[in-house]
Amino acid sequence: MTCQVVLPVVGTVPAWREQARALARAGVPAEAVVWRVGDGEADLFAGAAPVATRSGRDLRLPRGAVETLETALCHSDPERFARAYATVLRLTDGAVRWGDRSDPAIRRILAQAKAVARDIHKMHAFVRFREVPSGRQRRAFAAWFEPDHPIVEAAAPFFARRFGDMDWLIGTPGLTARFIGGALTFAETAPGARPPEDATEELWRTYYASIFNPARLMVQAMQSEMPKKYWRNLPEASLIPSLIRQAPMRAAAMQAAAPTEPPARRAMVARAMTAREAAMPETGTLGAARAEAAACTRCPLHGPATQTVFGEGPADAALMLVGEQPGDREDLAGRPFVGPAGDVLDAALAEAGIDRGGVYLTNAVKHFKFAPRGRRRLHQHPDAGEVEACRWWLDLERRLVRPRLIVAMGATALAALSGSGHDLLRRRGSVEAAPDGTPVFVTVHPSYILRLPDEDLRAAERARFGADLAAAARLLAAARG
Ligand code: URA
Repeated sequence: MTCQVVLPVVGTVPAWREQARALARAGVPAEAVVWRVGDGEADLFAGAAPVATRSGRDLRLPRGAVETLETALCHSDPERFARAYATVLRLTDGAVRWGDRSDPAIRRILAQAKAVARDIHKMHAFVRFREVPSGRQRRAFAAWFEPDHPIVEAAAPFFARRFGDMDWLIGTPGLTARFIGGALTFAETAPGARPPEDATEELWRTYYASIFNPARLMVQAMQSEMPKKYWRNLPEASLIPSLIRQAPMRAAAMQAAAPTEPPARRAMVARAMTAREAAMPETGTLGAARAEAAACTRCPLHGPATQTVFGEGPADAALMLVGEQPGDREDLAGRPFVGPAGDVLDAALAEAGIDRGGVYLTNAVKHFKFAPRGRRRLHQHPDAGEVEACRWWLDLERRLVRPRLIVAMGATALAALSGSGHDLLRRRGSVEAAPDGTPVFVTVHPSYILRLPDEDLRAAERARFGADLAAAARLLAAARG
């Protein structure tokens, strides 16, 4: 006899995890379970009582398996839940080894996880937001996207990190993700919520603004403005009960996410940076600055280094990219990002559709810092004093180029631009400000990707870095209007 497990449309993967654990503990074999995604709450053992024919046990999975399995669960294949449950039982029993590609189920799970990761990456790179009227302090944006797989819940946190200071909505044929007041929620997309194919920009905005309205979060306002008897005529009426259920939780989350004061030290550093900037003389051209920097002795790093590696790119570039310091190859060539980190950067720029020749590319520190090991020179991070000494040149480059957007790649660049490089990964994707107010988009350094121990991780992070640069390019395009 089989039992049926109905997983909810929102929160499908965590519900599967919970149900799989419960079934395994109850000793229910894989062939006795029929999985489906359906309306309503997760429903264990709907229909029939489970048949326990194996001994109950806690699931035990090798490291790395959980994340990949859960990624594969975002695939559109209806068999994925059954396959994953059968596989976690076999892994727990030691009947198969995780990563064994000769096993058809594991091979399929790995392939599906890869397809899902690719789909998530495409969503990160290709979602196009349009601004919609918000009537609130935070600006509001909406987008429509059609992924190949049900990945919205897996993909949306990336946008929440990146566009944390805006409200936004991403509609897809399955779920709609809403990020309002700092709270990320999901609901089934109502029938008819797809924007018309031929909608003009204006129609599109109006259309989306109408399904964005945060007033719908306020139960009383909603009920008084939209008495229940009209609900059945609204295309999104099916969402209303769940919106009402979620409203108090969202309000709490919005309050919890209210902007906090930056730490006092950061404010102090920012004030000092602004004051110093105001006192800097208005000087020359990039060519003159480069010539002056070639003779720089502002810190001891000039001694062992071959030469100063100054920034390069058009003097009127709209986009400035800032790295840490030249590496071995850059030190010899006298140009930034021409070694292995440069290869990662070039690939990400190409993926983001950014022409390297149109960007001003520079480093926070202009001399290579290294420790000699035989014939090799091992990279060493610059210390705070060296970054501070070299900020003279970075500030000058910023003042001469006057980019509209700066991308800080890594903690050293971020420290030089904002006064603090702490919490880089938490700040990744956010837009901060240089002392003169120029927006600074935060991302990782390409060398961070090269240092990751695992090829799959490196591939995922390369893709994420490309998506970061694509997001920066979109911000720049939006700023240009
Ligand atoms: N790493 C950097 O930060 N800059 C370079 O130019 C090369 C490697």
